[in-house]
Amino acid sequence: MNTMTTLGTPLSPSATRVMLLGSGELGKEVLIALQRLGVETIAVDRYDNAPGQQVAHHARTITMSDPAQLRALLEAEKPDLVVPEIEAIATPVLEAMEAEGLIRCIPTARAARLTMDREGIRRLAAETLGLPTSPYKFCDSLEELQAAIDGGIGYPCVVKPVMSSSGKGQSKIDGPADVKVAWDYAMAGGRVGPGRIIVEGFIDFDYEITQLTVRALGADGAVETQFCDPIGHVQVSGDYVESWQPHPMSPVALAESRRVAEAVTDNLGGQGLFGVELFVKGDQVWFSEVSPRPHDTGMVTMITQWQNEFELHARAILGLPVNTALKSPGASAVIYGGVDATGIAFSGVDEALRVPNSEVRLFGKPESFVKRRMGVALVHDADVEKARVQAKLAASKVKPHTA
Ligand SMILES: Nc1ncnc2c1ncn2[C@@H]1O[C@H](COP(=O)(O)OP(=O)(O)OP(=O)(O)O)[C@@H](O)[C@H]1O
Ligand SMILES: [Mg+2]
Repeated sequence: MNTMTTLGTPLSPSATRVMLLGSGELGKEVLIALQRLGVETIAVDRYDNAPGQQVAHHARTITMSDPAQLRALLEAEKPDLVVPEIEAIATPVLEAMEAEGLIRCIPTARAARLTMDREGIRRLAAETLGLPTSPYKFCDSLEELQAAIDGGIGYPCVVKPVMSSSGKGQSKIDGPADVKVAWDYAMAGGRVGPGRIIVEGFIDFDYEITQLTVRALGADGAVETQFCDPIGHVQVSGDYVESWQPHPMSPVALAESRRVAEAVTDNLGGQGLFGVELFVKGDQVWFSEVSPRPHDTGMVTMITQWQNEFELHARAILGLPVNTALKSPGASAVIYGGVDATGIAFSGVDEALRVPNSEVRLFGKPESFVKRRMGVALVHDADVEKARVQAKLAASKVKPHTA
């Protein structure tokens, strides 16, 4: 295996060209990290002027879930690396083109396919790898859902469309009266119209973490697995609102988290950073899901690590060495749009930045929704609990409004 990575000059015949499929706030930071290494970047999204398109050499707008559009773009651009940044992509095209030797997909096309759908990754983790997960069943009708609950999943439980993210279509069932409501909600919230759901037993965890895990080449050219410090986070209706690093854990729970994370990421393979979502109660750990790419809760690493998760991803995919060390404890808090409007303005950024040790990122999204993530506040502090309070304070100072 060749450990020498050669990087070219952008916009010249020697260029190293990387295409991001999905150019939101996470893709934007990966693109910035790539730009810093002189990589020529192509930012793809479903709408014009997406955050990452604003910092890339080239912007392309297509429907990435449309196989014909995706294949045509890949054939026209011929990037050296294809980096999926979202789940809603026509992954069979990636698998076919990877098999034909036409593209190299990060981390692998198979990983992109398995993780875009809750069924693929859950069956892999629980049934193939034997990792601990919540009890679960896949159902295609309300009757099957009720039977699964009565047959052992029990109450409380959680229903999610198999094709969905950010909590869309997801709800908790506390008793028989909630079953039909949860089914109808899931049918309305799936990514590809009505379809399958997963029902999971509710895990009464003490806390949940994201275990960022990096597969990068070591000096001998073999892939090595490295771990970041655990990231704690709070989710409200399936969407992250704040995160912090490090989250304190017992040595046993930490070791078990890393065993689970390594087992899953080893199987998915390739090079890059993964966000492994885990539930923890005492020393017990359950695998929940994994992103084969930077994770939203990992935005905190923009202030807590020497190399943030986006830089780690960029370096790992290019075959460069990585350093996962913590720089300082810290926290992130999401800034929501608060209004439904295009071209909004933000007041109070000055006040936010007067919070000691703070930083603010505004993503530059052309359109705001009340619950759309438009920015994030970051704070570092030796005391992680203080960092959480201060990050929320800084976020609260930023006031989005119509221009
Ligand atoms: N079985 C469960 N038991 C307890 N809580 C759960 C369970 N499943 C999900 N949750 C809670 O809901 C959150 C979102 O669930 P999950 O990660 O499966 O959905 P998602 O739509 O993929 O969210 P995201 O895209 O934000 O990661 C979890 O982080 C956790 O807080
Ligand atoms: Mg999740």
